[in-house]
Amino acid sequence: MAVAILLVGGFGTRLMPLTKNTPKPMLTVAGVPVTEHQIAMAKAAGITEIVLATSYLSEVFTPYFGDGSKWGIKIRYAVEKEPLGTGGAIRNAAQLLDSNESVVILNGDVMSSHNLEEQIRQHEALDADVTLHLTQVQDARAFGCVPTDSNGRVTAFLEKMENPVTNQINAGCYVFNPRVISTIPLNTVVSVERETFPELVASGAKVFGYVENAYWLDIGTPRALLKASVDIVQRSGDFLAMPGSTIDPTAVISGGSCIGANSTVGAGAVIQGSIVEADCVIGQDSVIIDSFVAAGAEVENGAKIASSFVMNGEILTIP
Ligand code: GDD
Ligand code: MG
Repeated sequence: MAVAILLVGGFGTRLMPLTKNTPKPMLTVAGVPVTEHQIAMAKAAGITEIVLATSYLSEVFTPYFGDGSKWGIKIRYAVEKEPLGTGGAIRNAAQLLDSNESVVILNGDVMSSHNLEEQIRQHEALDADVTLHLTQVQDARAFGCVPTDSNGRVTAFLEKMENPVTNQINAGCYVFNPRVISTIPLNTVVSVERETFPELVASGAKVFGYVENAYWLDIGTPRALLKASVDIVQRSGDFLAMPGSTIDPTAVISGGSCIGANSTVGAGAVIQGSIVEADCVIGQDSVIIDSFVAAGAEVENGAKIASSFVMNGEILTIP
């Protein structure tokens, strides 16, 4: 048995202006917030209790997730007045968990299909202090570089280095022994990547990697966010229409696009490889390609939009 903390308090800087009113983890991928995908994943791995570690736009999460009963899981909220960093957030949120069970930590902006149950099992079998999900990427510069020895033990934790020593990276899902969390100082800004992990490795703590190269994506950039949604939609079809959406029969929707709840798509519209969030109005004969239409936005009749963010009254090219 394990409990979980979801780190959902970051600013989502690389997704501005989409994250001006919506925290990054609440942006939708295949019609539902990233956090909701993670809650389903955690539940499938046997987790019964989750704390959302919130800070930036914390008030957005509670009305949506409530006490978690809709998902059959117990959800509580820890709010940082000022962001405490990833380590400070974990320590703060852990106060709401009074158990001796393993604590799973999830970065709130990652879509992963790895076997979390197996990661927890390995962690407990090795009686590890921390077990990090590790995966391989082509370019490791934007991630935590994590070399391991032949026993799978982590030998260093090197956050965002210019010349990565390995392409094996921190995939942002950890299992902690609760004792280790209590060594992180309270009400203090701490980075788990730049402080806690390097210190644990240096002190000889049992930090292990759980290496699995299943589907994995950090949705922290606009292109990655679109890719995650398209990938998931394409697992079951060419497009996805959420309940309550209305699509004119002459509209052509393809390329893994998703049309959000209560959105309407007018006659002759063409939508490809895009996310249209909830409550949008897509005008007749408009063309929307590889773009993100934010909740509640309207697209004019005949508009031609490619690789852009569309918000009400604002269209910006994706950098
Ligand atoms: N509650 C809270 N408070 N959450 C935070 C804070 C904070 O002060 N700062 C960041 N977070 C959350 C973010 O919302 C996000 O879900 C997660 O912590 C990671 O922060 P990012 O800003 O997305 O970090 P990153 O993508 O540059 O790097 C991290 O993820 C990579 C994998 O995607 C690191 O963990 C890397 O080592 C890792 O490779
Ligand atoms: Mg990230």
